[in-house]
Amino acid sequence: MEAIKIINISKKYQLKSENVIAVNGVSYSFLYGKLYAIMGHSGSGKSTLIHCLGLLDKVDSGKIYINDKDISDFSEKQKNIMRNEKIGFVFQNYYLNNNMRAFENVMLPMIINKKYQHIDIKTKAKKLLKEMGLEDRVNHYPKELSGGEQQRVAIARALANNPNIILADEPTGNLDIENEIYVLEKLRNLADTGKCVIIVSHNMLVKKYADIVINMKNGKFVVKNHEI
Ligand SMILES: Nc1ncnc2c1ncn2[C@@H]1O[C@H](COP(=O)(O)OP(=O)(O)OP(=O)(O)O)[C@@H](O)[C@H]1O
Ligand SMILES: [Mg+2]
Repeated sequence: MEAIKIINISKKYQLKSENVIAVNGVSYSFLYGKLYAIMGHSGSGKSTLIHCLGLLDKVDSGKIYINDKDISDFSEKQKNIMRNEKIGFVFQNYYLNNNMRAFENVMLPMIINKKYQHIDIKTKAKKLLKEMGLEDRVNHYPKELSGGEQQRVAIARALANNPNIILADEPTGNLDIENEIYVLEKLRNLADTGKCVIIVSHNMLVKKYADIVINMKNGKFVVKNHEI
């Protein structure tokens, strides 16, 4: 089944002196049960694209369907619900809340969700952090964590509401090789359980875990099926 379908989407940034066309007329269907690696040079439009897929930014033209629903008709409230319940997003720069401890950062999407009991939320947050090898860091604030530790908190937070779609922008950018492999295996397992996982990365290792490798070049897709 299609998780995300995009039809001819474009996004440009207007600067005083020039226009940058970051995403240039891309059409594609992302399926459940698959792991996609979106690779490409710096500035090729990867973050812009994944932000649009995650409803964090708006396209200028084209259509995005998530679970067969045209999201251009969605109100902000509907988008917030979709983001909270269906999509786990790992930001390139983590975007942790600096005034919250690691476990509170992971709890936040579950608190917004309102479907969980408070006591369960805390237990679940700590379990997710433990799975990321951070059981000794649950009470730390982001500034008391290394870059790689913050990155793993951000991954735990993205998985908090058990989303069916996981969008990760350079999720292994700050990890050592051991944690990198661990995180990629975890994301691979999530795809194998039927989730749609899209990873944006420069890291060639990601290719090894992907069903499909997409190269982004000047805002366009060049797609290759990949033998795992
Ligand atoms: N807010 C913005 N205003 C103007 N131009 C922008 C803005 N954000 C991105 N761009 C431009 O759009 C293009 C695509 O940027 P994007 O961040 O999507 O690239 P990327 O592929 O994620 O790069 P990287 O691998 O370095 O993260 C770049 O040329 C960038 O300079
Ligand atoms: Mg980027």
